[in-house]
Amino acid sequence: MKTFTLALLTSAALSAQSQQIRVKVDIDRAVGEVHPHVFGNFAEHLGRCIYGGMYEEGSPLADADGYRKDVMRATQELGVTLLRWPGGNFASGYNWKDGIGPKDKRPTQIDHAWDGIETNRFGTDEFLKYCERVGVEPYICINTGLGSIEDARNWVEYTNEARQSYWADQRRRNGRDKPYGVKYWGLGNEIDGPWQLGHKNADDYSKFALEAAKAMRRVDPSIKLIASGSSNFGPAADWIGWNRTVLERLRQEIDYISLHTYVGNRDNDLEKFLGNGDIIDHRIDVVRGLITAARSGRPNQRPIYISYDEWNVWYRARGSDRGNTLEEIYNFEDALAMGMFFNSFFRNADVVKMANLAQLVNVIAPIFTNKQGLFLQPIYFPIAEYGKQKGNQALSLYVSQPGKLLDISATYKNSDKALYLNVLNRSAKQDLEVRFESQQGTPGGQAEEWRMNHSNLKEVHTFGDDKRVRPVTRTVTLPVQNNAFTYNFPAHSLTILKVALR
Ligand code: AHR
Repeated sequence: MKTFTLALLTSAALSAQSQQIRVKVDIDRAVGEVHPHVFGNFAEHLGRCIYGGMYEEGSPLADADGYRKDVMRATQELGVTLLRWPGGNFASGYNWKDGIGPKDKRPTQIDHAWDGIETNRFGTDEFLKYCERVGVEPYICINTGLGSIEDARNWVEYTNEARQSYWADQRRRNGRDKPYGVKYWGLGNEIDGPWQLGHKNADDYSKFALEAAKAMRRVDPSIKLIASGSSNFGPAADWIGWNRTVLERLRQEIDYISLHTYVGNRDNDLEKFLGNGDIIDHRIDVVRGLITAARSGRPNQRPIYISYDEWNVWYRARGSDRGNTLEEIYNFEDALAMGMFFNSFFRNADVVKMANLAQLVNVIAPIFTNKQGLFLQPIYFPIAEYGKQKGNQALSLYVSQPGKLLDISATYKNSDKALYLNVLNRSAKQDLEVRFESQQGTPGGQAEEWRMNHSNLKEVHTFGDDKRVRPVTRTVTLPVQNNAFTYNFPAHSLTILKVALR
């Protein structure tokens, strides 16, 4: 009887041991810098993102130029570093020349991307002044759909030319003498998608983009260019072939290739939803390989990185079900998905050097306004917190786990010897016990814990009530022994543990 109990215990202990999740952390295994531009954002002329979001002329909440002060503050507190504009799909039908000069003389146009009315009262100068005021780097996406190469070249001349020239003088006439010095330029948006105005095949796009790049660089050789990568992952689409062609043809001109990913929890299956991190990793891996192949055997070429310049949860407010306003209301489980995206960007910090949440205000956005004010959606908080790791070194981890419930990334800040462990528990039901083993340095006995968790996965915020799904921070004691400690991560939680290494 005694022997039997012992045998049972031994097998239980053994299975607990084999179930244990182990993570080895080595601060020498740096993958790359978490580039500050990974905390970029995106503002499109669509629904109430610009008009009624960032910009509301005559509103008591706006400044003299029409910029909503409450939105600017929330943008700064979100930690946004870079802002992509004017689209998105909108970019492929946009004539930037309609949006300069005296506002009352600007033409009102129909936007055929989203079937909207574009008054053009917010144009290039309004966007670039907004970026200066908020303190973010501008990123302009040119029109490679219905637009022309000449228009693209002239746009760079308007924003960046210091000498006297037709377009630089137009800028001066519009009140701005000093060039804006716009550094980041997108060579179009999702041009591989049949939904795009002026959709092209990979050959036609590459020819157009190559000549546009050449013409734009003749105006300002210092600009950085982002090629439109494929975002069409449908069964019939050849996203790999598109990227291969674009990289091969444009490799001498581009600095980034873009990737876009939207996810949704259509099946109401949390583990599957948060399992999208594996798909994001895979897409990055494939594009990294294509970049390596395009540059192979051709030394001394410019490096090419990935700009993940549209990403978010987006599946409820699509198309006509809410009009083309894309006013997605985010819940707690969507906040967990923010951790999923950032963990993937951090794991791949060698190649993901820019990422833009789509979008900033109202349109699939963390900030939601009405005429009286705004509220912060649950997705706001993880974005702001992960942003504190900008500039840190991302680490490559050894992870051993029986299933796939743990999604993790880690970064290290050398100046204050701080290790950040970013842990997403994808499970709806199961807590995870994780043993961390530090390969160098002893974890301090205390750590700062930031955590988001909620009993209701579907909990949302609204006006006057945006405190329901908020992070909780506390100082915790770590049971450190032999440079290792074990920590519990409750079901459906996102935790950032800041540990000092001695
Ligand atoms: O962000 C919404 C839309 O999603 C963008 O306009 C487009 O680029 C993508 O398909």
